[in-house]
Amino acid sequence: MFNVDLDPDHPGFHDRSYRARRDQIARIADSYAGDGAIPDAPYTAAEHAVWRTVTTALAPLHRRFAAREVQAMLGRFPLATGHIPQLAGVSARLRAASGMRLRPVAGLIGAREFLAALAADTFLSTQYIRHASRPWYTPEPDVIHELVGHAASLADPRVAALSRSFGRAALRASEAELSAIERVYWFTLEFGLVRDAGEVRAFGAGLLSSVEEIERGVLHTEHRAFDLDAIAATEYSPADLQPQLFVAPGVEDMFNRTSEWLGRFGG
Ligand SMILES: [Fe+2]
Repeated sequence: MFNVDLDPDHPGFHDRSYRARRDQIARIADSYAGDGAIPDAPYTAAEHAVWRTVTTALAPLHRRFAAREVQAMLGRFPLATGHIPQLAGVSARLRAASGMRLRPVAGLIGAREFLAALAADTFLSTQYIRHASRPWYTPEPDVIHELVGHAASLADPRVAALSRSFGRAALRASEAELSAIERVYWFTLEFGLVRDAGEVRAFGAGLLSSVEEIERGVLHTEHRAFDLDAIAATEYSPADLQPQLFVAPGVEDMFNRTSEWLGRFGG
């Protein structure tokens, strides 16, 4: 039996049916051997409604705040809007687009495990969705974050290549090097900003998947120059709103400089 621990202040802590579903979804991750289609998660109608609510709210925010290159990626890799897409179908499409695939995990995992999997073309993805009582909030990554934030960019061969570089670097890294690599991942693919036709716009998955963070990240955080050694020395807290972010001069520039920086670690 697989039981998912939730904190007492988690919005789903007292919801027995949500917790049973989380346990069931965790068992899918636990028993999935990595070949064949990922079993479908048993989402409820209320959970599909959460997906609709959040994706409907994000669409105009993407148009206003996301980098145009990201909007193009989202356009090339559309996701269902009426219901939560199952990981199996998204993974098969990713495989065809860039060679990446999804593999379910039961929850947040360590940086080395997450990053190292990227070297093997594998993006470790949660499958559950946040609790329906709080559609705007999740204390942990969920399927909205993984799919709305990451899937379209992982389908882009340049992001897939950069992700593999992160993975190769993490495989060889010492503990100190790993925390530098993890921070660079965080401030680029998760929370990176880019300059786009004179404006600062959102690039990273954590911004694209959060109604709360996208506008705040673009308009109301401290913006710092894109200096990878400075990024590597900057701590972050995954559970809090981000007080400062780094702005790359452009998407291509972010890819090139990050990839060169990862080369030091064998990325
Ligand atoms: Fe993420």
